[in-house]
Amino acid sequence: MTTSALVTPISLSNDLLTGAEWTPAHTLDLLQLSAEIKARPGRYASSLTGRFIALIFEKPSLRTRVTFDVGIQSMGGSVVFLDHTQASASLGARESIADVARNLDRWVHGIVARVYKQKVLEEMAASATIPVINALSDKFHPCQALADFFTLEEKFGSLRGFKLAYVGDGNNVCHSLMYLAARLGVHLRIATPHDYKPEPEVVADSKRVAKETKAKIELMTDPQEAVAGAQGVYTDAWTSMGFESEGAVRSAVFAPYQVNHELMALADPNAVFMHCLPAHRGLEVTPEVLDGPQSVVLDQSENRMYVQKAILHTLF
Ligand code: CP
Ligand code: NVA
Repeated sequence: MTTSALVTPISLSNDLLTGAEWTPAHTLDLLQLSAEIKARPGRYASSLTGRFIALIFEKPSLRTRVTFDVGIQSMGGSVVFLDHTQASASLGARESIADVARNLDRWVHGIVARVYKQKVLEEMAASATIPVINALSDKFHPCQALADFFTLEEKFGSLRGFKLAYVGDGNNVCHSLMYLAARLGVHLRIATPHDYKPEPEVVADSKRVAKETKAKIELMTDPQEAVAGAQGVYTDAWTSMGFESEGAVRSAVFAPYQVNHELMALADPNAVFMHCLPAHRGLEVTPEVLDGPQSVVLDQSENRMYVQKAILHTLF
């Protein structure tokens, strides 16, 4: 890597599949590198020169697709886009996932993939020697959570002891926030309905790491308890991609978890509102909150670019 002298090298796993492969120190380094790339993008304009990266999408995307595409090109690299969003072109139908990965391994330098099943990413990573980056799966969205904590660090400084409340579905975004919060020393309170809690193995790993870092990961069902005094209030869609058939049931179960003016009033007066987007006005968040002065959703969205550039700079 021609630009490695520009920053302190970070040693990481070859892949980014969950966010749990990062040590607390590596995670902090990556946020620092994101800030450096945001401040001085020109220094990284050749980091990916001569590199080709495959972007595989089984699900729709605006932010992830554009920020990876623009980010890779702005570092001198090239993108090969593989569209698997149509059922007729489903990934693994024409040939096995392992064969797709083994072939890509011979032509390109990395794979960024948005998939329905986390297992697909694991199979790709096991079959290819090149780095595989999770661009969202049913279980995790690590690029999102890294951008979220980078956004909070920009606004509040150190994240140690930062009080973040997550309200809604214990989903992919929630899981990644948990892994990263544990590694960054954040105090994360999660309020979900009883049947939509985050997965036990994610809870167990996050609590194990939290003991080392003095982070706190707390699970509850009462959104008001989670938000009380929080410096950040985060929510996500009640119905994630792939769960559309459950939409009506979910809208009823999650109604008490809507982030509205009344709920935000329980948080710290300087609290920010966060959402990974796309948002559903009138469901998980009201327009007054999403579009109001406390909302930092577009900063989160912008910062996807810098965090992903830092990930690419590090892995390639
Ligand atoms: N937040 C996020 O990943 O957005 P997209 O689904 O548009 O990529
Ligand atoms: N939890 C959402 C996030 C979208 C970026 C989903 O998986 O659809």
